[in-house]
Amino acid sequence: MFRFLVIFWLQLAGYSGLQWAERFQDNSGPMEVCSGQNIRLFWNFTLAQDEHVKDMVWTCQPEGNATEMLASYVDDTFMPMSEFSGRLSHLQDGGIELSCATILESGNYSVTVNTVDNNGDETLYRQTAWVKVVDTPKTQNGRIEVRQEREAVRDDTSDRQWHVHLSCGHFSDLGHPPVEAEWKTPNGETLSSSYFHKGNFHLLLSNPVKGGNYTCSLPSLSPATRCLPPGSVLRDDVTVYVDEVAARFSIMEAHQVAMETRLDEERAAFAVFRDNTSLEKSQMQGEMEDLKIRLDTATLRVSFHARLTSSFTGSGTLTPFTVITNEGDAFSGTTGTFTAPRNGTYFFVASAGTASSDKYVDMYLQKDGVSVSRALARQYSGYYTMGSVQATLYLTAGQRVWLHSARSNTHYHASFTSFTGFLIHADD
Ligand SMILES: *[C@@H]1O[C@H](CO)[C@@H](O)[C@H](O)[C@H]1NC(C)=O
Ligand SMILES: *[C@@H]1O[C@H](CO)[C@@H](O)[C@H](O)[C@H]1NC(C)=O
Ligand SMILES: *[C@@H]1O[C@H](CO)[C@@H](O)[C@H](O)[C@H]1NC(C)=O
Ligand SMILES: *[C@@H]1O[C@H](CO)[C@@H](O)[C@H](O)[C@H]1NC(C)=O
Ligand SMILES: *[C@@H]1O[C@H](CO)[C@@H](O)[C@H](O)[C@H]1NC(C)=O
Ligand SMILES: *[C@@H]1O[C@H](CO)[C@@H](O)[C@H](O)[C@H]1NC(C)=O
Repeated sequence: MFRFLVIFWLQLAGYSGLQWAERFQDNSGPMEVCSGQNIRLFWNFTLAQDEHVKDMVWTCQPEGNATEMLASYVDDTFMPMSEFSGRLSHLQDGGIELSCATILESGNYSVTVNTVDNNGDETLYRQTAWVKVVDTPKTQNGRIEVRQEREAVRDDTSDRQWHVHLSCGHFSDLGHPPVEAEWKTPNGETLSSSYFHKGNFHLLLSNPVKGGNYTCSLPSLSPATRCLPPGSVLRDDVTVYVDEVAARFSIMEAHQVAMETRLDEERAAFAVFRDNTSLEKSQMQGEMEDLKIRLDTATLRVSFHARLTSSFTGSGTLTPFTVITNEGDAFSGTTGTFTAPRNGTYFFVASAGTASSDKYVDMYLQKDGVSVSRALARQYSGYYTMGSVQATLYLTAGQRVWLHSARSNTHYHASFTSFTGFLIHADD
């Protein structure tokens, strides 16, 4: 299991006591143990003649964790801590063996030996070993597969060019410490992967593409590869043949597709811009029309004044009138009727006198036939009387207002009867 088994005696100058038998790859590098195998630490020693072991303690400091005690040796008895019992055994002298190692058990293992001599003098000795538990890489189907991806990819991080790309995988676990696949080009160059994504190592081929066999493999010297069983197919190289003409063609194709996509995007952007512009134009037109209406409303003039053309007797609509003012042309003298040109608030007033003995003025101001104001007067002998009606009315466009005589024994004298109205304000 230990590839570089170096055994030597450590002889400290001027020291005649405990002597260690060291067995490490070297004194600084870690000892690698494949996961599932046993960590064996041979800490043999020889004692001076008058020395014997009083007690021993084994500890481990896992990576990034606090030191924990593994076992102790007191009164000639080896006692592993309960969480290691059954897995931890005592070898010769200070040596121990931990079976079925996991990667969480990487760390620095130590033994501390306390000896006592015939004079009762005690001495502490300590030895440490750095252990790394290595886990093998795994793929989804137990093999490594390499292939040329159908479509070229653009490398936006560096040269912004299109590249043929190869992938090698599919890894479910890169092992511990993680492996990195390496590539061999037809020229015999060794390259590392361009990137790793979703279980695959990818290599972007540099342009112009060189055709030939490209090989993907796990570096045979990496610890995780060394832990693979001897016949494992993950140790094999896998090769893909890249056809130079087809590869260059796929790059051209990718260029073309990208250009078309860009053109489409630009067309779409232009269409949005165009639509926006026409939208803005129609919004503007709408706003202008609105403004025009408001202006029309603000400057709209409606007013009239009319006098009866000849005296009117009897019942019905007072008519005809001689029109004196008719701004907006809303009043008809012939029918005696005002027709509202727009929704709005209007004011009307009319006054009438009979100038005939024993005749009435019984006049209603009517809005579409509904009376809103009434004047009633009767003339006795030579006493002249008059009446008037008035109203402020909200009218919608097309509603009509007129004067209505309510009885037959009436007389509306032409020179005493007039009708006036005007728009106060129109709705927006
Ligand atoms: C340590 O002891 C074991 C068990 O006796 C033996 O197999 C091994 O060779 C010894 N190692 C050294 C360096 O003496
Ligand atoms: C173990 O010891 C080595 C060498 O002394 C050191 O580089 C490493 O950081 C130590 N590891 C831990 C987990 O303490
Ligand atoms: C540290 O120890 C705790 C408790 O034993 C364990 O849950 C954790 O995984 C350890 N961390 C490392 C990095 O080994
Ligand atoms: C590529 O590899 C295949 C088999 O792996 C071999 O038959 C072929 O000759 C190789 N081609 C070149 C150009 O090396
Ligand atoms: C189109 O109009 C929307 C909303 O007015 C705006 O958010 C967008 O940026 C415009 N797009 C273009 C291309 O002008
Ligand atoms: C006038 O008023 C009527 C009734 O409230 C309403 O239906 C109509 O839309 C209004 N017309 C205008 C031009 O505002």
